[in-house]
Amino acid sequence: MSLLDEIKAKAAKLKKTIVLCEGEDKRVVEAAAQITKEGIAKIVLIGNEAECKKVAPDVDLTGITLVDPLNSEKTAEYANLLYEARKAKGMTEEQARAQAKDRTMFGALMLKAGDVDGYVSGACHSTANTLRPGLQVVKTAPGIKTVSSCFLMIAPEKHKYNPDGVAVFADCAINIEPTAEQLADIAVSSARTAKAIAGIEPRVAMLSFSTKGSGNDDKFTQTVPKVQKATELAKEMAPELALDGEFQFDAAVAPEVGQLKAPGSKVAGNANVFVFPNINAGNIGYKIAQRFGGYMAIGPVCQGFAKPLNDLSRGCSVEDIVATVAVTALQAE
Ligand SMILES: CC(C)(COP(=O)(O)OP(=O)(O)OC[C@H]1O[C@@H](n2cnc3c(N)ncnc32)[C@H](O)[C@@H]1OP(=O)(O)O)[C@@H](O)C(=O)NCCC(=O)NCCS
Repeated sequence: MSLLDEIKAKAAKLKKTIVLCEGEDKRVVEAAAQITKEGIAKIVLIGNEAECKKVAPDVDLTGITLVDPLNSEKTAEYANLLYEARKAKGMTEEQARAQAKDRTMFGALMLKAGDVDGYVSGACHSTANTLRPGLQVVKTAPGIKTVSSCFLMIAPEKHKYNPDGVAVFADCAINIEPTAEQLADIAVSSARTAKAIAGIEPRVAMLSFSTKGSGNDDKFTQTVPKVQKATELAKEMAPELALDGEFQFDAAVAPEVGQLKAPGSKVAGNANVFVFPNINAGNIGYKIAQRFGGYMAIGPVCQGFAKPLNDLSRGCSVEDIVATVAVTALQAE
């Protein structure tokens, strides 16, 4: 069974309720029907029947709960929840009443209120518009200050440098130039995702162009000291975790290089979770693995939120939406 099939099968056992915020999108309506039919999760779809029928006339909506913020009895309660969450930031009650009718905000408020277990959106909204409601009202998990993302990278076949057949790459999609503190949060969250979703025992490598001080960019951009500091902070945050750095990629995955450049490290040479120093490195890195290495990338999986929220790519397929809902259900466990 593929990792994706395993994730769907695990999700089906959990029977979580996931809100999909974009009932105006054909792919979302089709995915909602498929998820319901396959029993992967219970779906709340934000939209109304006429609109869903218009974009996806042949889809059977049986078993899907449709909610329209414009006439839902919950909108007033959610507006109050939003006002309480944002009044310190200057939001007025009138602004909260208006914003609660926005579909992505409504979905995030359903999650905050505990009326659903997870949130998936972004098929027809940008990453910023998809995540902002969550950042504003759902906020971060205890002990974590940074919401980040990772990709589950599934190998085309097992490889000597990736015996698990799966690796986690972070952060390839949210934090553009993370600080040392943010990198430490990304590392700890990625280890949790690796365990919960990929089902692997995490060994986290903090990546750089330098291994244990071999490279030095003090005079220029200070990226090596940043990764070194992040490594220390992450070790303090999660002392039980197998985590080390800073490593070049080959020192992280190849035992012969790891032993040479970082003797005695438990992670060097056998890492399976890779924390990149910034989004440029992360995004380029996962696409190289995907295009040259034939890896399948599942994600971005958002991590670090107090409750699970995930962002779809605007180019997503129905299958991508189904997979993201299954991952979200597992995060809600
Ligand atoms: C995450 C992102 C979407 C947030 O954008 P934004 O809404 O413009 O962020 P803002 O700076 O206005 O912050 C909004 C709120 O979220 C919080 N926030 C922003 N980023 C956060 C993060 N990574 N973790 C935790 N909180 C965060 C802010 O502190 C702020 O909270 P407050 O209003 O309660 O003070 C932004 O970092 C981004 O656009 N990243 C790149 C995404 C991208 O283009 N990816 C490419 C896809 S492959």
